[in-house]
Amino acid sequence: MNILVTGGAGFIGSHTCVALLEAGHSVIIADNLSNSKRETVMKIMDIADKEVNFYEIDVTDAEAIDIIFRNYKIDGVIHFAGLKAVGESVDKPLEYYYNNIVSTMVLTKACQKYGVNRFVFSSSATVYGDNKVPFVETMDLLPTTNPYGETKAMSERILTDIANANPAFSVSILRYFNPVGAHESGQIGEAPNGIPNNLMPYVTQVAKGKLDKLRVFGNDYPTVDGTGVRDYIHVEDLAEGHVAALENLTEGVHVYNLGTGKGTSVLELVKAFEEANDIEVPYEIVDRRPGDIASCYADASKAKRELGWTAKRDIIAMCRDAWRFEKNFKE
Ligand code: WQD
Repeated sequence: MNILVTGGAGFIGSHTCVALLEAGHSVIIADNLSNSKRETVMKIMDIADKEVNFYEIDVTDAEAIDIIFRNYKIDGVIHFAGLKAVGESVDKPLEYYYNNIVSTMVLTKACQKYGVNRFVFSSSATVYGDNKVPFVETMDLLPTTNPYGETKAMSERILTDIANANPAFSVSILRYFNPVGAHESGQIGEAPNGIPNNLMPYVTQVAKGKLDKLRVFGNDYPTVDGTGVRDYIHVEDLAEGHVAALENLTEGVHVYNLGTGKGTSVLELVKAFEEANDIEVPYEIVDRRPGDIASCYADASKAKRELGWTAKRDIIAMCRDAWRFEKNFKE
């Protein structure tokens, strides 16, 4: 199939483009490069040994999106493009609501105009709010603590209502837990601009000596060792989950957790990283980060049952692959 991947030069998008190409699909990437690099597109083609079409455009630009739909016979859309920093969304709510909601509507409008009926949406476990773990797709969503999470929940509702009004329009909503790691080649991975917000890229930069030590945000949570517990999932498993969702898409709206179903604490991840890479990661315990919840991990059984997909790579592989990419990464 011919797939339009928005945000395809980004962390999860780039790994999904490789997986799509390796599964025999062709890929068109639309990305405004606000949080990614053009060279990543070259690396995608190098890893998969296949060509892709790339357009540096903003997905909120209806005119630019229309040109792509007019010039290509598109069989499906995977929509990653969006702003995704939780903390930043609190400071810049309008930017987040505009970018993340308008992009979803511009794309679905183009899909309706050109008769494209396969839509896979990049959502997030954040939409569950501080629910009881493990998170299940049928749960009522609680308000999130940030505009970023609200844009994901709203986009889900928009897509659900559109699909309910147009039965031919098939939607798969994928709720990611904590994507980490990098492609085994070490060529693509997570390269955040500036000081990383997320744990794994912070750990790799401490290991590399770019940052002096990890600040562990609180050790007084009701968890195995007091530190925050998350469901870390290898980005290559996540990419394979997107291909499975696309290839198994049937009419209506389908929501899937893409997680391992296993919770790992901050200190357990640090220990795994040190063991996997035989390297030390100095840290200190500091105050909790506002907005953090104690535990977040998936009930991943529905994706296994309906898509035949489960995460295969363990925390050691995640740490090893993340470190390999960090060592190769040139600013
Ligand atoms: C993980 C754990 C922190 C950094 C966020 C978004 C979510 C998704 C993934 C987009 C927590 C602790 C972290 C550090 C630390 N993004 N931590 N020191 O907050 O679970 O999820 O990223 O979809 O929507 O909310 O990920 O990696 O920031 O934190 O102790 O320097 O590591 O407290 O327990 P989070 P994270």
